[in-house]
Amino acid sequence: MPRYTARERRERYLREYDFQKRTGKQFFPYAIYHDAIMSVIVVGVIIAMAVFWRMDFGAVPTDASAAREGGLLGPAYESRADPAIEGYDPKPEWYFFFLFELLKIFKTPELLIVGSVIIPTLMMMALIALPFIDRRPERRVSRRPVAMAVGVAVPIVLLALTWRGDQGAGIAGEASNRPGATAFAQTLGCGTCHKLADAGTAGNVGPVLDDALPDYAEAVQVITNGRGAMPAFEDIGEDQINCIAGYVATWSGGEGETPGPNAASAEQAYPAACEAAGGEYAGEAGASAAGVPSRGGSAQAAG
Ligand code: HEC
Repeated sequence: MPRYTARERRERYLREYDFQKRTGKQFFPYAIYHDAIMSVIVVGVIIAMAVFWRMDFGAVPTDASAAREGGLLGPAYESRADPAIEGYDPKPEWYFFFLFELLKIFKTPELLIVGSVIIPTLMMMALIALPFIDRRPERRVSRRPVAMAVGVAVPIVLLALTWRGDQGAGIAGEASNRPGATAFAQTLGCGTCHKLADAGTAGNVGPVLDDALPDYAEAVQVITNGRGAMPAFEDIGEDQINCIAGYVATWSGGEGETPGPNAASAEQAYPAACEAAGGEYAGEAGASAAGVPSRGGSAQAAG
C-alpha cells in the first residue's frame, strides 16, 4: 500500500468530499425514506406475528398446573410460577453465562464487585481505548502478535466462561421418590445450595454432592454442625439427620437405580431412620400415608 503524507491524505479527502457533494444523494430525504420503509416492514412483521400467535395459541387451560401447549409460536402462558419451589435455580439467558460464571468465581460478598462491576468495566474501557492505543496502519496478521494474541484469547476466555456458566447451573429437575429426596430438595432447602441429581436440585453455593461424594459419617457431621457457609441442621432431630445423611451418602454419584460409591456407608441406618422420621423424609409411600400435603407440586408428584 502506498503511504501518503497527512497533507496528501487531506487533499484526497477534500476531492472525494467535493465529488460526493455534487453527485451523491442527501441524507434527508433519501436515507430517511429508506429507513422509514424498512422500519415499517419490521414493525409490520412483528404485528403480523403477534396476530398470528394470538389466533394460534389455542385454549388457555383453566387449571394452573396443567401443561401449556402452544401453537407454532408457543403457548399463551408458561405454567404459573410456583413460589413454593425452593430448589429453583435462576439462570440467565445463554449470552450472559460468562457474566454468570464470573459472579460464581467472585462469589464472596467482598469480591462480588470485582466480577459484577470492575472486570466488565475494565473490558468496556479497553474496547473504547483500543483505537487510541493501536494506531499503527499495519494490518498484516503476522506482524501484529500482541493484537492477534489478545484477539484470540478474549473469545476463548468468553467461550470457556460461557460453557462453564452453563455447566454449573443445570436446570433444577424433579426429586426422586426415594426416602429423604423430598426433604432434601424442599423441606430443608439443601437443594438451594447443593446440586444433587437424584433430588433434582441445582444449587451452586455449596459443593456439587454428586462430585463431593460424602460418606455417611461425614454427612452426619456436616449436617449436624454445619461447616463454613453451611448452616447447622442440629435442630431437625436425630432420625431426620440420619435419614438425610444416609440419602446423601447413598444417592450422591448414583445413577438411576444404582446407588453411589459411598452407599455402603449408610446401608444399615438410612431407610430405617427415614421411616422413623416419617413425613416428607419417608419417601413416596410414607409421605402419602402420613397425608403430607403436596408442597411445590411437581417434586412430590414425581414418580
Ligand atoms: C446456605 C447454603 C447451604 C445449605 C442450605 C446446605 N448446605 Fe451443605 N454445604 C454448603 C457449603 C458452602 C458447604 C462446603 C462447606 C466447606 O467445606 O467449607 C457444604 C458442605 C456440605 C457437605 C460436605 C460436602 C463435602 O465436601 O464432602 C454435605 C454432605 C452437605 N453440605 C450436605 C447438605 C445437606 C444434606 C443439606 C440440607 C440439610 C445442606 N448441605 C444444606 C452450603 C449449604
